[in-house]
Amino acid sequence: MTTGSADYRDAGLTFPDDFLFGSATASYQIEGAVQEDGRGPSIWDTFSHTPGKVWNDDTGDVADDHYHRLDADLDLMADLGLEAYRFSIAWPRIQPTGRGPANEAGLAFYERLVDGLIARGIRPIATLYHWDLPQALEDEGGWANRATAEAFADYARIVGERLGDRIAVWTTLNEPWCSAYLGYGSGAHAPGLLDGAKALAAVHHLNLAHGLAVAALRDVVTNDPGYSITLNLHVIRPSGPTGAEAARRIDGLANRVFLGPLLDGEYPADVIADTAEVTDWSFVKPGDTELIRQPISLLGVNYYSTVTVQMWDGESPRAHADGHKDMGGTPWPGSEDVEFLVQPGPYTAMGWNIDPSGLEDLLVALHEAYPTLPLMVTENGAAFDDVVTEEADGPAVHDVDRIDYLRRHFTAAHRAMARGVDLRGYQVWSLMDNFEWGYGFSKRFGIVRVDYDTLERLPKDSAKWYAELIRTRSIPA
Ligand code: NOJ
Repeated sequence: MTTGSADYRDAGLTFPDDFLFGSATASYQIEGAVQEDGRGPSIWDTFSHTPGKVWNDDTGDVADDHYHRLDADLDLMADLGLEAYRFSIAWPRIQPTGRGPANEAGLAFYERLVDGLIARGIRPIATLYHWDLPQALEDEGGWANRATAEAFADYARIVGERLGDRIAVWTTLNEPWCSAYLGYGSGAHAPGLLDGAKALAAVHHLNLAHGLAVAALRDVVTNDPGYSITLNLHVIRPSGPTGAEAARRIDGLANRVFLGPLLDGEYPADVIADTAEVTDWSFVKPGDTELIRQPISLLGVNYYSTVTVQMWDGESPRAHADGHKDMGGTPWPGSEDVEFLVQPGPYTAMGWNIDPSGLEDLLVALHEAYPTLPLMVTENGAAFDDVVTEEADGPAVHDVDRIDYLRRHFTAAHRAMARGVDLRGYQVWSLMDNFEWGYGFSKRFGIVRVDYDTLERLPKDSAKWYAELIRTRSIPA
């Protein structure tokens, strides 16, 4: 558990020279240009164009128009002094229907991005899947269908053949928890299904996709990159006498159902038992767990907040405060009787509690469980309701809350390192405001503001604070 003072505002902490400071985005959230250069439709195009699914019926049709502003955005990254940039590749730009020959224009766009990063001394961290599944594959069953995992390996090979001499770190999947449980269980994310059995099948096929993709990449990549997957592991605080049981269940469904096959070579028996009424797990075929457990050189950790759980007594009104928009289904197949308690504040604009001790606890726990596996924070950041003020030298965003959030979480990461954690870097979410999935453009996570009328970029005070951290390698006062 947490050590040291509770406020996580230690002064003067310095990071090692090889620690990779960067920032992160994802294709559908920033690119726009959804119908250009042969890109096929993705499940997020379909979902966001379905009325009522996304706040204000916002879509990623234009988003930050990054596709057309690539060079200016690269210059912005260089101005901030980023050492790494974590981006994702849109599968439907590479294979418009998720299968078949590569679309040259799609590959060329990411090649231009990667070369632009390298020319500016920024290390490319490429994620192959950040939720924009080609719609044609969803029409065949999506992640509930085993063939999607096999198609993903072909896609990984195509990208690896083209960019596999230049990427610093490959990440197969971003937050498969969201793809599976929010996509197929609660319906909050595309494709918007409410089917626990499909959600668990999706968990397995995403795990399988990861293993097959790492193997495919290794076959074709010619430099010596890192191979990783990024998980949104849940930091779970038990509450009261039933807290331990509730925490075991959620740890199983959120964390161990991924870590088990990925790193230990097996699915946890208790998760299979907990979900017996939902599925018989016959989608796991002989040999699958060997395919999934490919050696990786880095585990990506996305961290925002913590959850507190107990078992629901079946009578009291249910608190439902797990921070995810509930469209009517549950993201927890077989554990619907776990109750998520309202967390103590303060909160971000997402309603998520701010608890940097959770990041320290998570990093330390992972290090203790997997001592030889290096870690990277692949996302951390916060949405706040930013205000633009007019100053003598132009508009400004004095986002002190975001700076405070980042300061505390960098401090937490540093404390974890002081406790022996092999943490290789930190990618702030996000480089710029963008399409926040079901919340559309209503939530701003960027350290750079995007004016959605003019698409102009404006570095917030947090961007300047971060640039100072990167320049000095020490957390600014
Ligand atoms: C995790 C996701 O990877 C990213 O796409 C999202 O915008 C942030 N968390 C904030 O919710």
